[in-house]
Amino acid sequence: MDSFILKKSILHKDIFGCPSLLLAPMEGVGDRPFRRAMAAVGGFDLACTEFLRVPSNAHVPSLSKRYMADEISPIPLAAQIMGSDPVSMADMAAALVARGAPQIDLNCGCPSNTVTGRGAGSSLLKTPDLLYEIAAALVKAVDVPVTAKLRSGFADISLFRENLLAAQESGISFLTLHPRTKLDGYGPPARWDLIAQAKELLSIPVVGSGDILTVADAHRMLRETKCDALMIGRGAVTNPWTFHEIRSSFSGQPFVKTLESLHLFFSTFIANFPEEWPLRTRINKLKQIASFQFRQNKELEQFRSQVLTGSYAGEEDFLAQVLPLLEKGCFV
Ligand SMILES: Cc1cc2nc3c(=O)[nH]c(=O)nc-3n(C[C@H](O)[C@H](O)[C@H](O)COP(=O)(O)O)c2cc1C
Repeated sequence: MDSFILKKSILHKDIFGCPSLLLAPMEGVGDRPFRRAMAAVGGFDLACTEFLRVPSNAHVPSLSKRYMADEISPIPLAAQIMGSDPVSMADMAAALVARGAPQIDLNCGCPSNTVTGRGAGSSLLKTPDLLYEIAAALVKAVDVPVTAKLRSGFADISLFRENLLAAQESGISFLTLHPRTKLDGYGPPARWDLIAQAKELLSIPVVGSGDILTVADAHRMLRETKCDALMIGRGAVTNPWTFHEIRSSFSGQPFVKTLESLHLFFSTFIANFPEEWPLRTRINKLKQIASFQFRQNKELEQFRSQVLTGSYAGEEDFLAQVLPLLEKGCFV
């Protein structure tokens, strides 16, 4: 079909000039319960799964079942894959598209040593030729847009331009840049100047990722880098309304966050916990989100360690103890 039309329309501006807003993939944090909770609050255009690791001997049919195309319907959910073998990666991409994936994203950024040791994730940034080969194999294997998410380099940025050009030449539809190297981890500030350089170098759209925590940050990234769309990760965990707030800064229509949406976020989050999760895992998951949200402002910050060290008899108890604090701090 229509892949041409889809490719053209996957990123857009709304009628007020707000660019596409993307929820970032976040392995270990942005899982299905989180994505569904975020979708209940809304405000973003596109989301992406955390990486699905594809070893060269992958059993594609069973691995691909982890992806659910309608997970946050009607918001499209890209499937992100990570690996270093073009053949198994292409097989996996085809299987995911057969399951309804509207977009395949190639992970070229994961810094984990177990991953990079096998030549995948950010390791691909050491070998632009292999990056090209894998991305081109994906583009050939599927008729939906293929995209790639890159860090700025592995140990340094000496191959920055080569990697960007290799990705573009493979035929991908857009590229997301998280401008830190693998060695940087998440430490130093994201180098937005590199997003600006990517925009100047490439003709495909560039999505900017890294350190957008406020509406002002979103506007500054757009202004300083000229990027085509924004992807937000940790800022959205901290403030699930961030996408609405950014959108409303374009439309001029005030956005009012409500207590109902805070409750909806948590009830959706909890309702989507897998049944097999023991109580400890459930509470830890809630604490993980709280550890972000209680950083929103000084009012909340003062309760953070109390919330994180507290003991809770179950989800209900957690909500009974924690939501009143969040309500007070979020709506000051
Ligand atoms: C806990 C965590 C897990 C992440 N997992 C992934 C991942 O699976 N795939 C990926 O491409 N990026 C991953 N990232 C990177 C984010 O998508 C994003 O590019 C980065 O966090 C910078 O954006 P932010 O400052 O808005 O969080 C992860 C980041 C975090 C914090």
